[in-house]
Amino acid sequence: MSSAAIILAAGKGTRMNSDLPKVLHRLGGVPLIWHALRSGSLSGADKMVVVTGHGGEKVAKSAKAFDPDVLIVEQAEQLGTGHAVAQARAMLEDHDGPVFVLYGDTPFISPETLAAMQQCQMDGAAVVVLGFQAAEPGKYGRLIHDDQGDLVEIVEARDASAEQLAVDICNSGVVLADAKVLFDLVEKVGNDNASGEYYLTDIVAIARAKGLKTQSVLCAEAETLGINSRVELRRAEQMLQAAKRAEMDDVGVSMDDPASLVFAYDTIVGRDAHLGANIVFGPDVTIESGAIIHPFSHLEGCHVSQYATVGPFARLRPGSELAEGAKVGNFVETKNAILAEGAKVNHLSYIGDASVGAEANIGAGTITCNYDGVLKHRTSIGARAFIGSNTALVAPVSIGDEAMTGSGSVITANVEDGALALGRAQQVTKPGMARKLKARLEAKKAQQKNDLKDE
Ligand code: UD1
Ligand code: CA
Repeated sequence: MSSAAIILAAGKGTRMNSDLPKVLHRLGGVPLIWHALRSGSLSGADKMVVVTGHGGEKVAKSAKAFDPDVLIVEQAEQLGTGHAVAQARAMLEDHDGPVFVLYGDTPFISPETLAAMQQCQMDGAAVVVLGFQAAEPGKYGRLIHDDQGDLVEIVEARDASAEQLAVDICNSGVVLADAKVLFDLVEKVGNDNASGEYYLTDIVAIARAKGLKTQSVLCAEAETLGINSRVELRRAEQMLQAAKRAEMDDVGVSMDDPASLVFAYDTIVGRDAHLGANIVFGPDVTIESGAIIHPFSHLEGCHVSQYATVGPFARLRPGSELAEGAKVGNFVETKNAILAEGAKVNHLSYIGDASVGAEANIGAGTITCNYDGVLKHRTSIGARAFIGSNTALVAPVSIGDEAMTGSGSVITANVEDGALALGRAQQVTKPGMARKLKARLEAKKAQQKNDLKDE
């Protein structure tokens, strides 16, 4: 059956003290809301609706960047979580399967936990709420259970009695119910409470009154961590990095200085790959087994195959693909570039919008001039080609297999297989001229000194 997810992201996030909407602050290299979207898609949702409010346009743009099919609905006024869910109704009019409600600022809900909720629903619960045992229950809503362990109601802290406040099983905010059940319940929610808000949490008591089965599933508190301040964001980042390091240890990755690495939420590194110190991973990076990444490299949106080496001080930008044994050395930037097996770009180069053939050697200081100020153009370099140091390859241009370019060339026309292209001024050598020139200049300097004395 098809399923959907509603992601609440209309809140202001006042405590971030920022012009940027809270859910666009980055965690593990991507906006917070991407984590919720990923939870949604890992739960099997084929329709996702993001409820936006504060900074709505920016949030919508970011959500669409995660997946263009994400639906957006605006909650003009933030009247509460129940009201927020109700806004998504029109978007899910023709959807009759299960719907998860997730929060845009709650990044760590695991796929296993969502699967446990799905199982609870399949076992007969009409409404499933995700709870956790809180170390400090504080302001969280409390889950009130009956003797059978069914959920009776959720009481917000502000509305709770002293006895209810003593309960430490709290509401994470994540809810699962069939669309029709969810929207019918949400419609009945009122705002007669301490905050004057439409509480999503009220659907539990309303469902019970209708004779529906309501249950909770519990997860570890760490999964339910919500981000409200920069301190919490930083703590979440530390948790994410620690989890990634543990994942690397499990896989069998060698790390010289694990604490100095910055992983993205989705970084994948293979067994026996070696990571030097101080490497930063942006999103969407895969490093295969046995590859070596030397210190101080920055990688994003790229794929490094087995036994390839990168850095130190290399920058692989999105679309960089290194085949087996390829080499990208120090102070080299690549973007949208495919390096075939054993290709080498060892020093001080920019290789963008390019393909480099197997075993080709790109000399120091080579630049693919891919941008004419308006459009981008491609450079293609053949297998076993040799590009002399400081060659400027003015794209669109192609260099054949086993072709060569002379150092310092500006190459503007295609070079056929096996040819040598020289695009530079002819050298002129004048015997003895250097000494003569120096003598002339020294005489001139002496003359100037004399002139000064005479003044
Ligand atoms: C909510 C729960 C509480 C739970 C806690 C967990 C309710 C009534 N209370 O409280 O039981 O323990 O989360 O963190 O649901 N949002 C909107 N539109 C709104 C209001 C909120 O989109 O009108 C979004 C916020 O941006 C946020 C999420 O919903 O992502 C939760 O809202 P928040 O105001 O933080 O709820 P809490 O008071 O923390
Ligand atoms: Ca909150």
